[in-house]
Amino acid sequence: MKMTKEYRIKLNLANSCIRLCLVVVLVVLASLTIPSDCFRHDDHYPKTIAALFVFGDSLIDPGNNNYINTSTRFQANFPPYGESFFKYPSGRFCDGRVITDFIAEYAKLPFIPPYLQIGYQYQLAYGANFASAGAGALVETYPGSVVDLKTQLWHFNEAEKLLRSNIDRRGAERIVSNSVYLFSIGANDYSSYSRNSNIFKSFTPEDYVAMVVGNITAALEVIYKKGGRKFGVVNMPPLGCVPASRAADLAAGGTGECNGQMTALAKLHNVLLSKKLEHLQKQLKGFRYSYFDFFAVFVDLLDNPSKYGFKEVKSACCGSGPFRGANSCGGRWGIKDYELCGNPQDYSFFDSGHPTQAANQQFAELIWAGPSNVTGPYNLKSLFQLSL
Ligand SMILES: *[C@@H]1O[C@H](CO)[C@@H](O)[C@H](O)[C@H]1NC(C)=O
Ligand SMILES: *[C@@H]1O[C@H](CO)[C@@H](O)[C@H](O)[C@H]1NC(C)=O
Ligand SMILES: *[C@@H]1O[C@H](CO)[C@@H](O)[C@H](O)[C@H]1NC(C)=O
Repeated sequence: MKMTKEYRIKLNLANSCIRLCLVVVLVVLASLTIPSDCFRHDDHYPKTIAALFVFGDSLIDPGNNNYINTSTRFQANFPPYGESFFKYPSGRFCDGRVITDFIAEYAKLPFIPPYLQIGYQYQLAYGANFASAGAGALVETYPGSVVDLKTQLWHFNEAEKLLRSNIDRRGAERIVSNSVYLFSIGANDYSSYSRNSNIFKSFTPEDYVAMVVGNITAALEVIYKKGGRKFGVVNMPPLGCVPASRAADLAAGGTGECNGQMTALAKLHNVLLSKKLEHLQKQLKGFRYSYFDFFAVFVDLLDNPSKYGFKEVKSACCGSGPFRGANSCGGRWGIKDYELCGNPQDYSFFDSGHPTQAANQQFAELIWAGPSNVTGPYNLKSLFQLSL
């Protein structure tokens, strides 16, 4: 049969219609299967998708400071950082993984890279890490050199907007309410205060602590208002017990024991922080939290090193001077010469102010599933599993 021109055109139109319909059907089918199921607000939402959003300082910064213009002092992107795990300096102040790397693993989430890493923004459904080494709860702590807590919150705000545009509004709301928000911040506020390098040095310790804790709880409230419900908060460890503080105590004529002003500030901080959290739980409907008593765990570790598998809990693995407490690990900041141990797994401190990967793993395990004498009212695992 000879096709007329008219018939051919009709056939072509019909063909493109079929193709178009097929595409529409495929798109509809695709949207009904796995990918969007993860983000829908229906019953199929897998509980394991509870995401993790992290706010804090060098204890949990996975390398955000690699992406800001700052001093080497606030970066760890040179050897020997990373030597035990990544085999390259990732920017973590550690020989390997930090606490939140382990937590993401326990929560069956993918590895969570720094939020500021280019291109990362598309995996936000699993969470994000906004932490920045040197950051404090106060914007006055190392201003211009770090991503302070206020800016970290602003980054969360950006992330949440992206989630809303990448997924649908209700899917994004579901992620926000089901996620866990982990905070570990304040140590840098106290170290700059006790070195008298803070503009608030005329404040009494009590007033200063109230300001730091006030800014942390204000951050929790900001996220609560956005729909966040599950919060993890790490308290202050005995700050006088880090090698840098012991060395400073020795230099000031002390004995290098760790009950100086820094530890006193940490104690004040913890009393106020736990009170404020109890208060928030009473005040805010649906607010759930996990408070980790880092202080108690650290004291237990210092008193019983072998129980945690350590041989050395006072001196750092990497650094110089007494307790290897000079901030010289890697030789990029002031002092060029430094010592490096060959067995970081036997040490609780890697450098003058940061735990080894081995210590981070133990802290992460206790944050995740620790007993009620170290974490409560929830541990992080039960917060992740909680369906609201
Ligand atoms: C980085 O900071 C330094 C010191 O504050 C400044 O001189 C320099 O111009 C900055 N570089 C960029 C690329 O912003
Ligand atoms: C937060 O810190 C600022 C100083 O950066 C202080 O003026 C303010 O009162 C603090 N906020 C709270 C709620 O404590
Ligand atoms: C918590 O209790 C366990 C025993 O259940 C004990 O081994 C551990 O030392 C306690 N932790 C602290 C920090 O007191």
